[in-house]
Amino acid sequence: MIPRRFSDLPEYAFPRLRALLERYPAGGEPIAMSIGEPRHPMPAILHEALAAHAIGYAKYPPIDGTPGWRAAVGDWLTNRFSLPTGTIDPDRMILPLNGTREGLFMAAMALCPAEKNGKRAAVLLPNPFYQCYAAAALAVGAEPIFVAATPENGWLPDYTSLPEDLLARTAFAYYCSPSNPQGAVASREQLGRLAALAENYDFTIAFDECYSEIYPDGPKPAGGLEAALAEGVSLDHVLVFNSLSKRSNAPGLRSGFVAGGPALITAMNRLRSYAGAPSPLPVLHAAEALWRDETHVEANRALYREKYALADEILGDLPGYTAPRGGFFLWLETDDGEAATVQLWRDHGVRVLPGAYLGRGDPRFIDGMNPGTRYIRAALVEPPGALRPGLEAIAGVMRKTAKTQTPSEATA
Ligand SMILES: Cc1ncc(COP(=O)(O)O)c(C=O)c1O
Repeated sequence: MIPRRFSDLPEYAFPRLRALLERYPAGGEPIAMSIGEPRHPMPAILHEALAAHAIGYAKYPPIDGTPGWRAAVGDWLTNRFSLPTGTIDPDRMILPLNGTREGLFMAAMALCPAEKNGKRAAVLLPNPFYQCYAAAALAVGAEPIFVAATPENGWLPDYTSLPEDLLARTAFAYYCSPSNPQGAVASREQLGRLAALAENYDFTIAFDECYSEIYPDGPKPAGGLEAALAEGVSLDHVLVFNSLSKRSNAPGLRSGFVAGGPALITAMNRLRSYAGAPSPLPVLHAAEALWRDETHVEANRALYREKYALADEILGDLPGYTAPRGGFFLWLETDDGEAATVQLWRDHGVRVLPGAYLGRGDPRFIDGMNPGTRYIRAALVEPPGALRPGLEAIAGVMRKTAKTQTPSEATA
């Protein structure tokens, strides 16, 4: 017998995309823009550290990592987000993850009750969203609340304006900045207000920051820890998640971390001791070297900046285009995201993802509409040479959309 707990989950986005497109041959040399898998070279220090420590595969690794790994992550957080020295106690406030996805899921398992204040617990998540958040809410029997991220709110859902009764039963919240899919970046003040809200209503807020190191010229995206401190809020309700998948082009390494309030980390550590897969020692050594190195991160960012510039050049004058402020996705408005996806594949071999596959209708927001329906998500992962024809094809499709809109619709 199979539990019905997950029966509300739609088919995952990528099998849905395959089913949508398999009826059509590619209309040109395929250009991969659907999956957020970095394609830039892996840094040499990763290979070197793995090779030097391969003997570590002979041992069961500790669930909380090694002292060297914890110190490297603690120092990175302190430097990157200008935290006062001593804010992070690496031994009590950081845990390794096999990529952030499993950690984001397990955080809810460890920290989110099924009920709060005598009611079914609520889990807040942005909509559209990274799909793991909804599965985590359902796994603990809580109700996922899909808070719409729209152009009107700058694609950053404002949890502070939710009704009192909903906040009173909120037990856990996910928040993503820089956001996937829209590339929106929350200010330090916005993040700080969310941390304060979590403290006031006694819920845990999980800031998903795995795109924090990919951004155009200008200020670095702010992070949840610095924001909470600037707002005068303790870290007792705050967790941040980060990863080497995007920062260091190593999605297959499966290496990330969670950091935050000691009691939250202790609870996660306890559950992970029973059910978590510890990070292998060679992976921890490689991760330690990567968190201590910024040279490869700067080089990586420079490559993305070239591609942001290319996107601006090719799509910049189109009303459905907003330049991302972080991350490596474009979130582009069309007439109908699914139809545009088919057209791009069938006519040009360009593979993008319909925005609807990342969103959900929730009757509490925007009349229950799925906020992704009119959008496509395009990943800037291919090298510029391959990306140019992909972006040109997208521009062609969006130009047709712009022509079918009235001027007021185009600027709304
Ligand atoms: C918003 C967001 N969070 C988390 C992840 C998970 O990354 P990883 O498990 O590779 O660290 C991804 C990956 O695409 C993502 O887009």
